[in-house]
Amino acid sequence: MEYSRIRQEADRVLDRVVSMYHDLHRIPELSLEEYETTEYIRERLKEMDIDSFQLDRTGCVAYIGPEPVEGHIKTVALRADIDGLPVLEETGLPFASCHEGKMHACGHDGHTASLLGAAMVLKKMENELPVRVKLIFQASEENTLGACRLLDKGVLDDVDEIFGLHLFSDIPTGTISLEEGPRMARTEKFEVVFTGKGGHGAKPHLAVDATVMAAAFVMDLQTLVSREIDPRDAAVVSIGSFQSGNQYNVISQEAVLEGTSRCYTDEISNHLEEGIRRKADSVAASFRGQARVTYQSRCHPPVFNDGRLTERILGFAKNLLDPDRFKKVKPLMGGEDFSWYQTKVPGVFALVGCGNPDQPVWQNHHGRFTIDEPALRDALMLHLSAVLSV
Ligand code: NI
Repeated sequence: MEYSRIRQEADRVLDRVVSMYHDLHRIPELSLEEYETTEYIRERLKEMDIDSFQLDRTGCVAYIGPEPVEGHIKTVALRADIDGLPVLEETGLPFASCHEGKMHACGHDGHTASLLGAAMVLKKMENELPVRVKLIFQASEENTLGACRLLDKGVLDDVDEIFGLHLFSDIPTGTISLEEGPRMARTEKFEVVFTGKGGHGAKPHLAVDATVMAAAFVMDLQTLVSREIDPRDAAVVSIGSFQSGNQYNVISQEAVLEGTSRCYTDEISNHLEEGIRRKADSVAASFRGQARVTYQSRCHPPVFNDGRLTERILGFAKNLLDPDRFKKVKPLMGGEDFSWYQTKVPGVFALVGCGNPDQPVWQNHHGRFTIDEPALRDALMLHLSAVLSV
């Protein structure tokens, strides 16, 4: 298939992609509650004469192209996540969220719209497609459960390879990272509960102060990465939540901390977990209290791009988009449940810049996050490249 024709067909649906992005942006829904969004996607697919079905209560999948033939015709999956966040939108956009307190603040509306656009183009070329395409509109990425729920239902059982992407506003529009190897971090979530002995604020000697214990732990934790991990390796430990006590003159009996650790290898991940447990126990003991550390199971492995597949898609995409757009971007410490798919089949995940270089940057997950709309064209072309490069 000629590159110029693919570009032409893609550019023909671009206005539609933008309008679908606006529609989706208006109706953000939280993880596993994406009912209206799922209905919207299925209606658009129906208009394109594409049958879709649901494997879970939200999200949907659909096929385009020839029936697969063992050893001849492969199935390539294209995945977009569809959920929003509990963030109050402050963009002032004319198509801002109609759902108070909820927002598409991570660009998943853009992922979904560009995949719908790709579906329009691929459906039109259906008779010429070299592969069968499986569209996966995945619910619940933000709460880290969506990909595993679909894998449990066999979503990749008939799939040979998978492609996905993410828009990032702190990468300028026109910059795309399509690189092999590690791209996004392994992530863990943990909770630490310190237990002391409550008491009167005037009689600390009769109590065991959980606040002081937890505060000492937070400070002690700052040396875990800086003094124990090889400085040439990437690792981060952050405590995002600290709850202790509820009255100014009562010594707190219990402090509950929640945090996350990110890195790229099992070895470092094990070291961080051991270090967090060790420091929690030793700090608690030194203050005459107790600590309990709980790790949430099933956090993400790292996103790791297959080398051969990356090269193939990149080689093709450079013919649809200006080759200068493809740049090296350092691996991110953020997590992405796309990595679970890559544990089953070879996969590639692209990082796509969507930050308007002339505007201040508001990060993904901020109430003023926006997508610079030309980035949607990049996303569309990348989806097409993943399929048509086969
Ligand atoms: Ni996201």
